Amino acid sequence: MIENTSITITIDGPSSSGKSTVGEKLAHNIGYNFLDTGCLYRALTVATLQRNIPITDTDTIIKLAGDIDIVVKPSTVEDGRQYTVLIDKVDVTWELRSSSTDTNVSLISTIPDVRHLLTEQMRYIAKGANVVMVGRDIGTVVVPEAPLKFYLDASIDERARRRHNENMRNGQESDYKEILVNLQARDDIDTQRDNAPLKKPTNAYTINTTTMKPKNVLKEMLRIFHTVI
Ligand code: DC
Repeated sequence: MIENTSITITIDGPSSSGKSTVGEKLAHNIGYNFLDTGCLYRALTVATLQRNIPITDTDTIIKLAGDIDIVVKPSTVEDGRQYTVLIDKVDVTWELRSSSTDTNVSLISTIPDVRHLLTEQMRYIAKGANVVMVGRDIGTVVVPEAPLKFYLDASIDERARRRHNENMRNGQESDYKEILVNLQARDDIDTQRDNAPLKKPTNAYTINTTTMKPKNVLKEMLRIFHTVI
């Protein structure tokens, strides 16, 4: 049997805590691949909404999760995207960020069979090459044996402000109050679900990014990376 020697660095934390911004930079700096696992849950949510499947119809959503082909690849268009996501070869990258996706994704991610399927997909990717993997349960459930784990946090006001600014930068409609309420609801679902809830892995390095610039968060992560790996 060939021994698996690829390294996964995990970054967990609540929505808009800075995980994917600094995760991508970290990956770039150390020559690892990057995977924002939230985009898999978001892609399934987009597919569900596109087909007008009720969000409560878990059986149909589970079947859909097994039927569709979700591909995440490096950015193919220079329009501010971090990566490109295809569902059955159709580009849905911006649909992933719509407010209807935001509203429904947490609920879809509570379905145990959906989590099982997507977790297997993530583990397969982790076995293939060195990767910085970002999500909610990467250090606790998906790759608990990872040699380096981070947990990023930030106040909810700051996270809402970041999301609001990001929407405006991308020319999307945005309402700060609505984002704040939405974030709180998603935090509640993400931390209170029975299956793989968001929590800090016991052996993770925690960084509170509320008052930190991304470049300083990255600096701190690189410092830790070079002492651990
Ligand atoms: O990171 P994000 O906001 O794109 O994630 C979208 C949703 O997906 C979030 O509400 C929780 C869920 N998620 C999850 O449950 N586990 C992951 N590993 C990644 C995301």
